Amino acid sequence: MIQLRAIPLKPKGTRIGSLVLLRDVTELRRRERELITKDATIREIHHRVKNNLQTVAALLRLQARRMDSEHGREALNEAVRRVGSIAIVHETLSQNLDERVEFDEIADRVIAMVAEISPGKVECRRTGRFGVLDAEVATPLSMVLTEVLQNALEHAFPAGERGSVEVSAVRGDPRTDSRLLITVQDDGRGLPEGFDAQRTGNLGLQIVRTLVEGELGGTFDMLPVPEPGQGTRVVLDIPVRAQK
Ligand SMILES: Nc1ncnc2c1ncn2[C@@H]1O[C@H](COP(=O)(O)OP(=O)(O)OP(=O)(O)O)[C@@H](O)[C@H]1O
Ligand SMILES: [Mg+2]
Repeated sequence: MIQLRAIPLKPKGTRIGSLVLLRDVTELRRRERELITKDATIREIHHRVKNNLQTVAALLRLQARRMDSEHGREALNEAVRRVGSIAIVHETLSQNLDERVEFDEIADRVIAMVAEISPGKVECRRTGRFGVLDAEVATPLSMVLTEVLQNALEHAFPAGERGSVEVSAVRGDPRTDSRLLITVQDDGRGLPEGFDAQRTGNLGLQIVRTLVEGELGGTFDMLPVPEPGQGTRVVLDIPVRAQK
């Protein structure tokens, strides 16, 4: 394939000829086509992963419905939400051209998904912005958020009390700042006596610790809210790549 460009030569206004530039762009065009198909393929893969995860979630939900034990039903529904939060990230990735995602939208969908546990009783909201994150950060972070929110709704308000949960994200200047600070704070009944965020816990906090410290290279802590009225504050400090 040849790209042709002709530039008329008109010194002093009279046309004396043309300068013709020829360039072989075969390789360039081939690479462009390759990039387009590669993008489309990656998006298609994310789309299929999302579909598969939704199928898994649907199967678990079906199984939950058939379960007699309340406890078993709850555990399966928790698993539905765990799988669901990963599906949300893949759905967002399938709509994007690159491997970076606007996480605010994902956070809001995860919050809405988990908030279904206590419809109307506990108000969940986000303040601040997560901004754009790499896909490798988005998936574990959405899982961590799911666990922490699930805990707040389940354990801070065990008897279906009214209350609120606030997810706040502070990113600083996205071009220079390489830290993302997240707090999830509830105004519920507070942590149990002798609670140790690094040691206590079941599967949920194990997932959080493994992903935050291992996968994301950040830190995680849980503290009683210092003001009267108690409640719990979960603090996550995650290193992120600055935006271009
Ligand atoms: N926001 C909170 N308020 C009060 N207690 C909490 C809060 N978050 C966690 N906890 C306490 O920490 C414990 C450990 O949480 P973790 O998520 O590891 O386990 P779990 O929620 O009990 O079970 P699962 O493995 O299904 O998540 C909880 O059982 C609860 O006692
Ligand atoms: Mg939990």
